[in-house]
Amino acid sequence: MSEPSIDLAVIGGSGLYQFPGLENVSRRALETPYGPASGEVVLGDFADKRLAFLARHGESHTLAPHRVNYRANLWALHALGARRVIGVNAVGGIRADMGPRTLVVPDQLIDYTHGRVTSFCDVEGAEIKHIDFSEPYTASLRQALLDAAGRAGIPMIDGGCYGATQGPRLETRAEIARMQRDGCDLVGMTGMPEAALARELDLQYACLSLVANFAAGCGDEAEISIEEIFAHLAAATAQVPVLLKAMLS
Ligand code: HPA
Repeated sequence: MSEPSIDLAVIGGSGLYQFPGLENVSRRALETPYGPASGEVVLGDFADKRLAFLARHGESHTLAPHRVNYRANLWALHALGARRVIGVNAVGGIRADMGPRTLVVPDQLIDYTHGRVTSFCDVEGAEIKHIDFSEPYTASLRQALLDAAGRAGIPMIDGGCYGATQGPRLETRAEIARMQRDGCDLVGMTGMPEAALARELDLQYACLSLVANFAAGCGDEAEISIEEIFAHLAAATAQVPVLLKAMLS
């Protein structure tokens, strides 16, 4: 019997290592042409739909953002039949209304990462694909998240520019000031190359950003506390299954 198709894939970021409420769970470890994914893909039923979940940093958070095998992750989800992917990302808020625990669905991004493998074309003999990336996120999937938030009564900001930094360190105040001048509203370490690779595979892809802290120099604190980041993240992450249940119902 063939496996039921996947309605939605979720890539969990920091603080989201298991997807709560999945039923009839099975796990798939896939060999990919690009090496190992971050871990097994967890398949299960959620809101009467099929959901695939993958912890981007590994289930024990052992992979730093610049060491995540983004190609293997997206290839594995695509190979299992996923066509819609939501990347959940912890971020720092740059814009004043994007404080800790805010949920944002960005509509633009700027890539400041370096040294990451950014394309499936980065293989000898591969066909070179110049994807259109004017709009890096799939409008209909973004809208589905926003509509679901409305139905579930979860406050969510529509739009914003995600600046992807290399990490794993947080940024300096000067770096954030520059990003602000560039037009970034949020800063995170994992938004790229994930979004571009999803587009190369023709996957629908949207980013759900969970604000864990104000970015360097944007809040009142002189320093950013990692304990506070994880506390805010836990509160924001608790909304994710509620939101996705509303989206899939
Ligand atoms: N910068 C980059 N990535 C992040 C931050 C930040 O301040 N907070 C959570 N992820």
